[in-house]
Amino acid sequence: MPIYEPGRRVAIVAGVRTPFAKSGTALRTLSAIELGKIAVTELVHRTDVDPASIDLLTFGTVLPSVLAPNIAREIALMPLLPKGVQAWSVSRACASANQAITDAADQIALGHASVAIAGGAESLSNVPILHSRGFSDALVAASKARSLGQRVQAFAKLRPKDFIPITPAIAEPTTGETMGQSAEKMAKLNGITREEQDALALASHRNAAQGTADGRLTAEIVPVMVPPRFETAMTADNGIRSDTTAEALAGLKPVFDRRYGTVTAGNASPLTDGAAAVLLMREDVAKAHGLQPRAYIRGYAYAALDPGEQLLQAPVLAAPLALKRAGLTLKDIDLVEMHEAFAAQVLSNLRGFESPHWAERAGFSAPVGAVDRSRLNVMGGSVSIGHPFGATGARITTTLVNELARRGGQFGLMTVCAAGGLGFAMVVERA
Ligand SMILES: CC(C)(COP(=O)(O)OP(=O)(O)OC[C@H]1O[C@@H](n2cnc3c(N)ncnc32)[C@H](O)[C@@H]1OP(=O)(O)O)[C@@H](O)C(=O)NCCC(=O)NCCS
Repeated sequence: MPIYEPGRRVAIVAGVRTPFAKSGTALRTLSAIELGKIAVTELVHRTDVDPASIDLLTFGTVLPSVLAPNIAREIALMPLLPKGVQAWSVSRACASANQAITDAADQIALGHASVAIAGGAESLSNVPILHSRGFSDALVAASKARSLGQRVQAFAKLRPKDFIPITPAIAEPTTGETMGQSAEKMAKLNGITREEQDALALASHRNAAQGTADGRLTAEIVPVMVPPRFETAMTADNGIRSDTTAEALAGLKPVFDRRYGTVTAGNASPLTDGAAAVLLMREDVAKAHGLQPRAYIRGYAYAALDPGEQLLQAPVLAAPLALKRAGLTLKDIDLVEMHEAFAAQVLSNLRGFESPHWAERAGFSAPVGAVDRSRLNVMGGSVSIGHPFGATGARITTTLVNELARRGGQFGLMTVCAAGGLGFAMVVERA
């Protein structure tokens, strides 16, 4: 946890993102790198930060390109930025952009940097598809062959199953459980009903539709000209359903446990393409550049639990620690942004916040408390807006600091659950 000297706090100056598009739709031909460049370019233009002052750029992504695995460096090498901006990429599943942000904040707090861009991007339309082990071995053997005969021999051993490509699964490598199955398990363990999940999904869509209609959400978005014709601009997220109803949600069939399940396409986050980035600066440097910070990072924490247990419950362990490090309690918090991987996970996390059992597990004598639902995800969440894994943490950060400023609140809490049983929480203070 960074220890900030007066005037040298880590400021969140601004955040920008691309529209979030359901994968396979409008942004499907753009790579995560291209999406990241669009968000970062707009961030630099909007803030007018001097590119020469940027010390570092760090970006999160979950499924990096095999050809360009350091997405941060590829983004930093765009013409707008000087070649001397150091850049590295991070992966902490759905909290990857949060990792990028806290990495950058730590560098600023240590005095190693004073201006940083941090964010994340994901194109789930462009996931790397792998050859099978057998086919890979044959390709390697063929590349080493010295004659046509040896080359033919390398492929002769192949069986039909070797030609089946391997696509990344959204499943835990250690348990084999998919995210959806984990959400089902959490719903059952925490007694979360289908009705509660659908109600949360409905609220997510309503809030996001409202934020889009009144411009609060679209203000965070840079319009993207849609390839390949570039004739239309995408200006808003395309997964938000302003017309969805409780009845429509109730009519959807469970996806991950077809017989007894409660998780549907309506109360799960969709697979999404998009990117988001925030500008972080040391407080005094921001002011010297004439930039007004939106908020300061007050404290953060990561936590982890056994993925075989309740995969997406670790925010319950991270939140009390982040609050403690911020010197605050939930009563001080004006707004809460919670990543919605699944409505079942949000509701499980909220129950965990109220549970003495989870408080004890986190090393605290009292629970975090009950979140006032009117302060939760007030502009929607990942269920409606979408969830490009690597980008979500930067979207949540941007929305939280903007809405906190808009409402004149003082403190905001964000939480993100992530694969591997990981959890993140951060407290920000309005500038
Ligand atoms: C749940 C999941 C499998 C659904 O994928 P999908 O079937 O492609 O989803 P769709 O958007 O096509 O929706 C399926 C149907 O539900 C309907 N639907 C979805 N959301 C709806 C809503 N809010 N209101 C009404 N109908 C809705 C769609 O219209 C579609 O209907 P159709 O079949 O008649 O066209 C996919 O989104 C998924 O895997 N999500 C989880 C991602 C994940 O694990 N993330 C990790 C979190 S950390």
